[in-house]
Amino acid sequence: MCGIVGYIGQRDAYPVIIKGLKRLEYRGYDSAGITLFGGAAHVLKTKGKVTDLEKLASTHASAGATLGLGHTRWATHGVPSDVNAHPHTSNSGKISIVHNGIIENYASIKKILTENGFTFSSDTDTEVLVNLIEYIKLSQGVKIGEAVQISLSQVVGAYAIAVFDVERPNEIVVAKLGSPLAIGIGKDEYFIASDASPFIEYTNRTIYLEDNEMAVISRKKGFRMYSIVGGEALTPNIQEIQLSLEKIEKGGFEHFMLKEIHEQPNAILDTFRGRLFVEEQQINISGIEQHLDVFKNVDRITIVACGTSWHAGLVAEYLFEDAARIPVEVEYASEFRYRNPVINKGDVVIAISQSGETADTLAAVKLAKEKGAFVFGICNVVGSSIARETHSGAYTHAGPEIGVASTKAFTTQLTVITMMGLRLGQLRGTISKEAFDRVARHLVELPKQIGNLLKFANQIKAIAEEYKDAANFLYLGRGYNFPAALEGALKLKEISYIHAEGYPAAEMKHGPIALIDENMPVVVIATNKGHYEKIVSNIQEIKSRNAKIISIVTKGDESVKTLSDHVIEIPEVTEALVPILSSIPLQLLSYYIAIMRGCNVDQPRNLAKSVTVE
Ligand code: AGP
Repeated sequence: MCGIVGYIGQRDAYPVIIKGLKRLEYRGYDSAGITLFGGAAHVLKTKGKVTDLEKLASTHASAGATLGLGHTRWATHGVPSDVNAHPHTSNSGKISIVHNGIIENYASIKKILTENGFTFSSDTDTEVLVNLIEYIKLSQGVKIGEAVQISLSQVVGAYAIAVFDVERPNEIVVAKLGSPLAIGIGKDEYFIASDASPFIEYTNRTIYLEDNEMAVISRKKGFRMYSIVGGEALTPNIQEIQLSLEKIEKGGFEHFMLKEIHEQPNAILDTFRGRLFVEEQQINISGIEQHLDVFKNVDRITIVACGTSWHAGLVAEYLFEDAARIPVEVEYASEFRYRNPVINKGDVVIAISQSGETADTLAAVKLAKEKGAFVFGICNVVGSSIARETHSGAYTHAGPEIGVASTKAFTTQLTVITMMGLRLGQLRGTISKEAFDRVARHLVELPKQIGNLLKFANQIKAIAEEYKDAANFLYLGRGYNFPAALEGALKLKEISYIHAEGYPAAEMKHGPIALIDENMPVVVIATNKGHYEKIVSNIQEIKSRNAKIISIVTKGDESVKTLSDHVIEIPEVTEALVPILSSIPLQLLSYYIAIMRGCNVDQPRNLAKSVTVE
């Protein structure tokens, strides 16, 4: 998720764009750049934050330009670096682009362009796109607007782009598919941005482009909008938005955590986009494909992580052993690093970390490497310390996660893990085509199903109202639902400060059932997979001790419903994916209870987003 800003009008573009980029840094902050046109176009870009770009710009002339494009990056293809920062320019230097999104088929386009004499200085998909636009412009003799339209009809992926051609110095071309793009309409001036926060102080007249829409914004001819496919002229829908700056940064949500809960459909889609091809029964995770021999012959996998990422590791244990028949053990990184573990050459160690900076996990990675293991990382922050330290890896494409409580990071970690389980099973011949197909089809359905689950937020809020004053909670699950129970408990305790524990449901009779009374709400993840009859008897045990029972069941369940005080339904889905779906209502339950208790959900007491110290 990146932030793009553009301006064309009569103001000095530089301050408008720089201030706008600072407003968008919540969308990405590993590198930044700007292109200004007030005569000769020039591009300034740097690894680091917008303040680093300002330092760079202070040594260059930046005043006087009345047209410009800016970008603050959240790397997906290519690590954070000066050369990978946007804007990217075409080989001729005449066309500049800023882009938010992912071009899935950039590799095949890059190959064709290379065969036609184009060269590339960065590792990004965006540089491929800007050179495709130049190739179309030159080979078909069309203007920049048409070149963009034709190019986008050949692109697969998601984009919000702003494109500038020095040969058309009075216009900027924008286009949108899958990533947000807002246009601010001023008096003889136009603003372009990923959301309205960069221009709300200048104008509240806004056009939010819809998917498959593009526009040519011209100083002389105004704003002309077209459909990308078909090219017919469209009538813009100009709104007068009333959102505050703070609300805009949070996407209109009250808190970053709620925004990020609602971003999960897109985050999961972005994570499997370009990697999972259901009809072809193909999984393409480059970090695995480049080391097939390692994964084909591995005898044991050890997973090291902390917190929520450790819970994702537990799901991986169940899935990898089930689908790929590889022995897996999951370790707290803090324990692994100090207990002198037995790691043999040929072992694979997988480190899971949203931030890629967790001190214990980084130390565990280094120890595993010293002992001869092949270390694979699953991180969300491209170019983070853990990502750079591992031999290979796969990024989640969740975008920046600002809320301390991990939500979209967890479900995108599970998305990567599911794809890995399928690929490892396929590689080792331990998963049937039918099983592969079932899990893959259910995985691609998740964004829609999560979108539907989020519509029941008010039902969850009502349950939160009833239990917000509880002193303790228990979360129970069996099989894949055991890690989901642990994660649900962690979400509640870390943002509402209510003591909550997750347990394997069958463990209750080994002690914890002594805790049960009418003051103990118990959340049971009781979907009809695996050990359904067993979990029903577990529920009967706790019901007979007067617990209040909040059950998460498969839609249409009748048995558990009769035993529960509250029932939250999730759609029927293959067992391995229940932790993703069941985490949605549990995230919301924790969020609403914490809000009702007056807690700071985005920055809970005593917690940091990334634990970079021991
Ligand atoms: C989860 O909600 C917490 N924020 C915390 O447990 C987190 O998962 C843990 O600190 C690990 O962080 P990482 O994924 O960035 O390594």
